[in-house]
Amino acid sequence: MSTSINTLCKELTVGVYVIGVAHQERLHAFTAAWVMQVSFNPPLLALSINPHHYSYALLAAGRKCSVNVLGQQHLALAEHFGRSHTGNKMAGFRWQTAVTGAPILSDCLTYFDCTVSHFTEAGDHQLAICEIIAAQRLSSERPLLYHETDTMDKAHTLYPS
Ligand SMILES: Cc1cc2nc3c(=O)[nH]c(=O)nc-3n(C[C@H](O)[C@H](O)[C@H](O)COP(=O)(O)O)c2cc1C
Repeated sequence: MSTSINTLCKELTVGVYVIGVAHQERLHAFTAAWVMQVSFNPPLLALSINPHHYSYALLAAGRKCSVNVLGQQHLALAEHFGRSHTGNKMAGFRWQTAVTGAPILSDCLTYFDCTVSHFTEAGDHQLAICEIIAAQRLSSERPLLYHETDTMDKAHTLYPS
């Protein structure tokens, strides 16, 4: 049953994003698929983050993040930022900062620069509700879809049996 829930959840049409986080001098990022707009006014995004990720501690302390939309050509980026890493995960990638100071990948299609409004519990994840402070499209290529990442996130191992 867990395999079929996993397969069918991938039919929910979601993209693939790199979430940049920052606290003081520390910059970090992780791959996420569970991201959606949840309000017009103010413009809010929700992202679901496992509180065991290294990124979570930085997000909770720094209360700012970037949401970087990945394109079809970015499978290797998704894989790199989808692996746990407590060293300098940004090394070798071009990035910049906008308003909040969260790292923005120079190679993404579109970015949203956000401050964290609040967190709310969602099962084994935390939902970070984030206000969009700035956003820009850098390329109009086709976004990568979550189901196109296949088993990259090993999600099939995370459901209850
Ligand atoms: C395609 C893909 C989608 C993912 N989506 C999420 C997500 O929405 N939320 C989450 O907390 N982790 C998600 N992950 C897992 C994290 O990216 C992964 O655990 C990462 O190692 C965390 O990095 P960190 O520990 O360095 O912060 C996803 C991974 C991949 C490959």
